[in-house]
Amino acid sequence: MTIKSFVTNKLHSIERFATLPLVAQPKNLLYPNGYHTSRLEEFWGGEALLAFLDNVVATRFEGSQPLPGYPFRRSLLTDQDIFDPASPILQFCLQEAILKLVKSHLPFEPFLRSVELWVDTAEVSQNGPIETQYYHLDGDDSYNLKCFLYLSDVTLEHGPFTFFPVHYKSATSLIGRPRGINNTSRIKDNSLESPEKKGVHFVGTRGSLIFADTCWGYHKGLLPRVGRRILFTFQFTSKNPYWGPVMVIPDQLRDSVKQKEMKQILTKKNK
Ligand SMILES: [Fe+2]
Repeated sequence: MTIKSFVTNKLHSIERFATLPLVAQPKNLLYPNGYHTSRLEEFWGGEALLAFLDNVVATRFEGSQPLPGYPFRRSLLTDQDIFDPASPILQFCLQEAILKLVKSHLPFEPFLRSVELWVDTAEVSQNGPIETQYYHLDGDDSYNLKCFLYLSDVTLEHGPFTFFPVHYKSATSLIGRPRGINNTSRIKDNSLESPEKKGVHFVGTRGSLIFADTCWGYHKGLLPRVGRRILFTFQFTSKNPYWGPVMVIPDQLRDSVKQKEMKQILTKKNK
């Protein structure tokens, strides 16, 4: 990195952090450590979602190509899967209980920014971690709420989602976020962790759910050593996130979406 780009990155990140509201919502369900865990059974529509996603993995994994820049990852979901009227995906992601969690954390109206189905494999991990296998902050927005659903049993050997706890001063104030660091850069464990303060490895069986703000909290996928980690993930941001557009209902589906809140979250007016 040149001196100029280093200074530019520094300034960019300082400017960005300086404009952040350091206030989270009262009764934030991510309090006190920046994450919340649950089980699929606690939510509506889990069985239909699993059946749909299992079928995608069973029919598409073989023959799929790694995601560009992420040789350990296959990304298997298409917009057609998400917006198919028979698909259970949006009904699950936008159900009341999920939105309650989302709204308890985000200090703005939520919009769905992404929905992904990832299969991470251990075969290419012999050379050590790369990309999101290092701690990083997501650059999607000033805050986000990301949900991770394990579709396979995930042990320490399968590369669990790992989150460095965020520290709230109280239920309404989020502090302790490292400042002055280019927020999307990948950083080494030893520059973040200490003997007293380490990341939490979320091991869990199929059906485990984790909710976290990955724009505020450093996180990574631990390097997988065996098998596959199958993960369904979706996230909410503001209407105008820093990265990428929010999801928009395709025209042909617009009239068939009856639920008012779903219409608002899947907006057409994303600018
Ligand atoms: Fe991330």
